Amino acid sequence: MAQAIFHFPRGFLWGAATSSHQVEGHNFNNNWWAWEQESGRILNGDKSGAACDWWGGRWREDFDRAAEGGQNAHRFSIEWSRIQPVPDKWDESALDRYREMARGLYERNMTPLVTLHHFTEPLWISEMGGWENEAVIEPFVRYVRKAVEALKEFVNLWVTINEPNVLAVSAYLWGTFPPGKKDMGATLRVMVNLAKAHAAAYHAIHEVQRTARVGMAHHLRPMLPTRAWSPFDRLSAGLLSGLFNDFFARGAQEGILRLPGRRIRLSNGANTQDFIGINYYTQDLVTFDLSKPGDLFGRRYFPAEAQLSETNFIANLPQGMFWSLNWARRFSLPIIITENGVEDSQDKLRPRYLIEHLHQVWRAVNFNYPVKGYFHWSLVDNFEWERGWTQRFGLWELDVQTLARRKRSSVDLYAEICKQNGISSETTARFAPQLFEKLFPN
Ligand code: FCB
Repeated sequence: MAQAIFHFPRGFLWGAATSSHQVEGHNFNNNWWAWEQESGRILNGDKSGAACDWWGGRWREDFDRAAEGGQNAHRFSIEWSRIQPVPDKWDESALDRYREMARGLYERNMTPLVTLHHFTEPLWISEMGGWENEAVIEPFVRYVRKAVEALKEFVNLWVTINEPNVLAVSAYLWGTFPPGKKDMGATLRVMVNLAKAHAAAYHAIHEVQRTARVGMAHHLRPMLPTRAWSPFDRLSAGLLSGLFNDFFARGAQEGILRLPGRRIRLSNGANTQDFIGINYYTQDLVTFDLSKPGDLFGRRYFPAEAQLSETNFIANLPQGMFWSLNWARRFSLPIIITENGVEDSQDKLRPRYLIEHLHQVWRAVNFNYPVKGYFHWSLVDNFEWERGWTQRFGLWELDVQTLARRKRSSVDLYAEICKQNGISSETTARFAPQLFEKLFPN
């Protein structure tokens, strides 16, 4: 049997990613909690409830699990609605708790990466009109300053906004996130405001902390023309990808926001990323379809032969990870994979998905792509937005009733990878034997 290892660079960050609303529990002061109370919004009427009870202190045991599993980093988010429950009040005790969490990572020799906005906002921000209203940028930046000031002793890696593209589209075009609008004009306005908010937050963070490294977590969904020869398929794939994949990252590099038929120049917007964060899960094929003007004439679907996740949410297409890293390379900045993973309660697909995706990361590293870290989504099963508890992304399984954690076999797989700082032939043979010949041919 081949004895070999795909090594990663020294100092590579190995971790998992989480977000406040999905793991903390009882976040009753934000727009998602309110959304969960409305009937028909969340699959099965699920609620975040106590979630993983991190606000009750269970982050400690989960950080212990991560550290024991060889993880040397963790990405978590902080909840604006806890820190600033009403416009004129800072809750110092909430900030203390987040400081404790950041210190908790530090004490476990884990590097924290903190997301400042991960899909949720205080109710009073929603009442102002949310991201449709440009006036929310100013309070957002004030909150960012306050949070960075409080955490800077332990944190210097920051994501301003998680997946602004997914946020804008889900909340304002598809209506699956609050406020549930289906309005292209509003979607584009929100995209512009989120891009402006990022730029302003970038500068604010650097003013508070000179050594900060600031980026966004870009959800990348490669969209490839079904028929590469068809100019129509290429056109709709290109339009969709340009708006969904490129808008924010390019905007933050050039300081120019490219909307269909229109450009907006941001005076403070150029070079406002110190790294490129990538959330990659899956990719699409796009066929030109005249009946879909709202989707820029593109019908998206998974290739017929692809393996699908439990609820058909994700197709296992690891080549899209390489595509995404190649996409990121054009910015000439360090790259961090801020999320990647698969929903799989039985852990049937995850071991294979994990190894195949990391193999693509390794390939990119060997072409000298500046990839600095990988954060698996997620550490423990958590509340999956409008899909409620139907999707299980955790390395660790969560019993939502008792809050007990149970180990999936991917826990040991990922621990071996983190501890070896690589993917070995032995690990592959044990956890995903079907990949062995492909990855380690004799
Ligand atoms: C991403 C989100 C994250 C989680 C994963 C599965 O789009 O950033 O919160 O829901 O998908």
